[in-house]
Amino acid sequence: MNKLEKNISDDLSTRKKDHIKMAFEAQVSSLQQDTRFLYEPMLSEHKSSLQPFSFLGKQIQTPIWISSMTGGTQLANQINFNLAKVANAFGMSMGLGSCRPILYSDDQLSDFDVRKTLGYENLLFANLGIAQIEELFDNNEIHKLIELIAKLQADGLIIHVNPLQEWLQPEGDRFKYAPIDTIKRVLDKVKFPIIIKEVGQGIGYHSLKELIKLPLAAIDFAAHGGTNFSKLELIRSSQKEKDYFQSIQSIGHSAIEMIDFTNDILNELGDKAICKSFIISGGIKDFVDGYYLMNKLNSPSVYGQASTLLKYALESYDSLHNYIDAQVKGLILANSYFQLRQ
Ligand SMILES: Cc1cc2nc3c(=O)[nH]c(=O)nc-3n(C[C@H](O)[C@H](O)[C@H](O)COP(=O)(O)O)c2cc1C
Repeated sequence: MNKLEKNISDDLSTRKKDHIKMAFEAQVSSLQQDTRFLYEPMLSEHKSSLQPFSFLGKQIQTPIWISSMTGGTQLANQINFNLAKVANAFGMSMGLGSCRPILYSDDQLSDFDVRKTLGYENLLFANLGIAQIEELFDNNEIHKLIELIAKLQADGLIIHVNPLQEWLQPEGDRFKYAPIDTIKRVLDKVKFPIIIKEVGQGIGYHSLKELIKLPLAAIDFAAHGGTNFSKLELIRSSQKEKDYFQSIQSIGHSAIEMIDFTNDILNELGDKAICKSFIISGGIKDFVDGYYLMNKLNSPSVYGQASTLLKYALESYDSLHNYIDAQVKGLILANSYFQLRQ
């Protein structure tokens, strides 16, 4: 036996010993079965890459959207650049956190200025709250939006609509107008693409229907079931506030519920459905959830993650890179062998 053959034989025997030792630990109950999928082991080879596709006018290599997370602190700078770098490496899209700090001043622009790191071929969206948009209209300053997009070299703007979070925040804004009306005003005024999102509570059927009738670039679910800003604001508040308002954190819609809403609305509206691109986000744990939800939606989509990516981005770039690499490999495997049950 030569050296190579001996190594292979040693590896094999270690593996076989592991199998015998670990077989008892490796028991699963059929209750743990993921009933969302048909597992079809006979029908495909192991595929080796994801199929790039066009979304909002750019080529997407990896269908994971980096959901908006706040900038404006030194830590956020490091996070944003780790996120942009990994998006560049895997051909992903990125939504910036609220760009309010750079609306009137460029002092903190460097925390958000990720375009070069991200690469011009990947989607970059700026982000503002609907309350800031109301304010810009009231002050006749809507040109500030155009300047914001230009200085970030962004592809467009995400507007977050978060009435529950604002209401629970001691320093929170109050909306003077129905957000849908403000959104229509923005669409009339600007030419760049607009995405609308919640921040982790999701969006109900009737609101979703009104949004789908508009010429938006996309709707980002930011659904209930992951990071919840009502809960977060309550954690920041007094015990009394927590006692009074904790039920609010349970209000909202999960990603799967929103997909059912969306499929129904698209069917109902037919030609009147104008916005047909979606970012499925809010509580997406991993590629299995992402793969399932994208395939369940009858319209073009990517899936978004915030807190999960934040966790790895805070550790290090390598940690984030390894996580995304694993997600891409998982998505390829899912494409080969997981089919959705009807
Ligand atoms: C630290 C942090 C900061 C966030 N800041 C913003 C923000 O500035 N603008 C926004 O639209 N959403 C913001 N979000 C909400 C996320 O974009 C996302 O909608 C929400 O966290 C749900 O996704 P997840 O369950 O994957 O975390 C933030 C989320 C996190 C975790």
